[in-house]
Amino acid sequence: MDFESISAFFKIGRETSSIKFSISASLTIFTFLASIILEKNTIIKNIKHNFFFHVIILIYYLYNMNKKKLYSPSNRSSIDKFLVMDILSKSTEIETKGKKVFHLELGEPLKKTPKLVLAEAQKYILMKNPGYTPSQGIIELREAISDYYKIKKISVNPKNIFITVGSSSAFLLTFLVSFDPGDTVLLFKPCYPAYRNILKSLNIKVIEVNQNNIEGIKKFKNSINGIILSSPNNPTGKIFSYDEIKYIYDFCIQNKITLISDEIYHGIEFSKKTISLSTFGKNSIIINSFSKYFCMPGWRLGWVIIPDSLCEKFLRLAQNFFISSGSVAQYAAIKSFECLSELDKNVKIYKKNRDLAFNKLKNTAWNEFYKTEGAFYIYLNLSKFKENSQHTVKKILDETSIALTSGFDFDKQKGKDFIRLSFSCEHNLFDEAINNLSKWIKKNY
Ligand SMILES: Cc1ncc(COP(=O)(O)O)c(C=O)c1O
Repeated sequence: MDFESISAFFKIGRETSSIKFSISASLTIFTFLASIILEKNTIIKNIKHNFFFHVIILIYYLYNMNKKKLYSPSNRSSIDKFLVMDILSKSTEIETKGKKVFHLELGEPLKKTPKLVLAEAQKYILMKNPGYTPSQGIIELREAISDYYKIKKISVNPKNIFITVGSSSAFLLTFLVSFDPGDTVLLFKPCYPAYRNILKSLNIKVIEVNQNNIEGIKKFKNSINGIILSSPNNPTGKIFSYDEIKYIYDFCIQNKITLISDEIYHGIEFSKKTISLSTFGKNSIIINSFSKYFCMPGWRLGWVIIPDSLCEKFLRLAQNFFISSGSVAQYAAIKSFECLSELDKNVKIYKKNRDLAFNKLKNTAWNEFYKTEGAFYIYLNLSKFKENSQHTVKKILDETSIALTSGFDFDKQKGKDFIRLSFSCEHNLFDEAINNLSKWIKKNY
């Protein structure tokens, strides 16, 4: 009988009670074994006495575990916290006290939803009673997305495009349609933490390989069911090269592994061009969103391109989990494709911020970082200082009101040596923030 069936039998396994139960059970077994081994010893009476004492405690815990079923959290819900949200609540607290805070912690784009999109949304709110839409999204938006790929000379049939509640729900539905509990998915670290956490909550195992060691995936060819690739990467800003992407794509086809490509930062690219996985053919799942390049994070709209063989089951999941994504957001988002030159102007602002940050930081002791090629982050390597980045981030917020993110969210092993800086705000504000940060670094390092 394994621990899971014992847990199921006694309905135990819920976090705190299971820890107490394990300690109590270990003590009971220990005293029982000790009483057998030390049979002729004089302390035997004491041990036997202790054994009965532990049995009583064990029974007490078993009794309580059964009693405390109501509202105890499930095992699957014990996933990691998003530490950046702690920094956000602390920085917001400082702001409510009237102090100016520089938000370099968030993954939010400029607050510049295109004007045409805003006008269209207003029109729909006034004209119609926004209702549900088909679960795969309105056909007009799916066709507009398909046309958007045509600009990149990629042909995507609108029937394979599903509109989702941000890319976040696309991940949930994609994982559900592709994997079963017990399957294993490979991630390239450091990476966006929600992949790891959503997978864990679905009882899917996670293996992590360094993003600079693509060939490291070879040894897992028989043990993994999926790979998630994210380019441009959050938090490093790396854009995977054509050769790297092709290598992963071919590897997945040869070994019958599901390949999921997070393309949410496509369009926000500087020195190197992004390549959509769909360039190579139809054997991958492409996830994208209106949250970053399109400056519409709060509209909660994303999309996913699903291979034919998964469409029917994906639709059933989408119908049951979400019914549909917001109708006003969907109708308005069609207009965003008429605003590409307006959106490209934002990318110029991000590039100006990135270049300024590179120049400023390279003259400080914090001069080790990946040269961001896309997205709007700089991932600072502070390993030479042997500090815990969570503490450093708190100290900077207290002393300068600059909010940053510890690398801990993105990499459980090495993240304590890294800090992520987001440069997605207006240039004037960023100029002030990066000047203050450079001064602080020079003073402290
Ligand atoms: C790499 C990456 N993927 C996905 C998401 C989720 O975005 P959304 O659900 O707004 O589309 C984020 C958000 O920051 C992200 O950085």
